[in-house]
Formats: sequence, C-alpha cells, structure tokens
Amino acid sequence: MSSVAVVPGSFDPITLGHIDVIERAATLFDELHVVVVHNPDKHALIPIAHRVALIEKSLEERGLTAGNIVINSWSVGLLVDYCTDVGASAIVKGIRSQVDVAYETPMAIVNRNLAGVETIFLLPDPAHAHVSSSLVRQVSALGGDVAPYVPKAVAEFLKHTTD
Ligand code: PNS
Repeated sequence: MSSVAVVPGSFDPITLGHIDVIERAATLFDELHVVVVHNPDKHALIPIAHRVALIEKSLEERGLTAGNIVINSWSVGLLVDYCTDVGASAIVKGIRSQVDVAYETPMAIVNRNLAGVETIFLLPDPAHAHVSSSLVRQVSALGGDVAPYVPKAVAEFLKHTTD
C-alpha cells in the first residue's frame, strides 16, 4: 500500500520555508499533496486559484513537479475530508517556534479525533525559521525586497501587484 500525506496551508503566498518542508516531506511519502486550504480566520491577499498557480510555478523552479507531488485546493469542508478522499494518513506541517507548536497542536489533535489522521511536524532549515507569509505580505506591501524569502515566481508576482 502506498503512503500518502498532505501539506496544507493558506500559502498566501508560498515561501521558501514552505518549499523546504515540501521538498523534505516528498522524500518521506510515496505521494504528497500540497493543498491550498481556505482559512476562515485569515483575510487572504491572493485568490486561491492564483495561489495554486504560484505553487505550481515555484515547485517547477525547484524541479519538483515531475515527481510524486500533487498540487490542489480545498475550500468546501474539513481538511480531513480531503485527506480521506485521497487516502492520506498524515498531515505534514513545518514548525518554526513555540508559537507554531501552540497554534498547530489543537489542530493536530482535532484532526486525529475527527478522522484518525496523524500530524507530523518537520523542523525547518534554520535559514528559513524567521520566514512567514504574513511578513512577506507586509514587506512587499511597503515596497521592500522579498526575493530572499520567496520563490522567483512569487517575488515577480508581488512586484507586479505592488507596482
Ligand atoms: O497556513 P495556515 O493558514 O496556518 O493553514 C491552516 C489551515 C488552513 C491548514 C487550517 O486552518 C485548516 O486545516 N483549515 C481547514 C478547516 C478544518 O479542517 N478545520 C478543523 C481542523 S483544524
């Protein structure tokens, strides 16, 4: 039986920190779904379809699209419903700090209670430990250079949206 996992997130936008987690998670499972999930607690900058397109371009940049990675979006229900649909037994998340542990722990427990889906936490490359989508959005909105934190496709997209 093949192992399937899901890397969910708002990805608003995808950062080099996300790419790092995706790249490493893809080596641990036969199939890895990177899924843009609507987070009702967050006001999104980029429409979901565009976030998916940016993930596709970003993974292409890294030569990761020809392998075992599937890119998708999910906005109609629980994340665990998506996991059940694709036969995923695990969710993979990156953990940068104690703040992330506090944020992710309740979701991991609820997802396990709802559908028996386990959450696996990966520690990021320290080079990306300070990078977040919200920081990228803020720096970009104020005219700063986000190139060190995001894939080229995202840097270009943000440059055009703020020009
Ligand atoms: O990148 P984010 O915003 O931290 O990702 C959080 C996300 C979207 C993965 C989380 O909010 C989520 O899973 N939402 C889907 C709704 C759901 O299943 N909620 C119940 C379990 S947390």
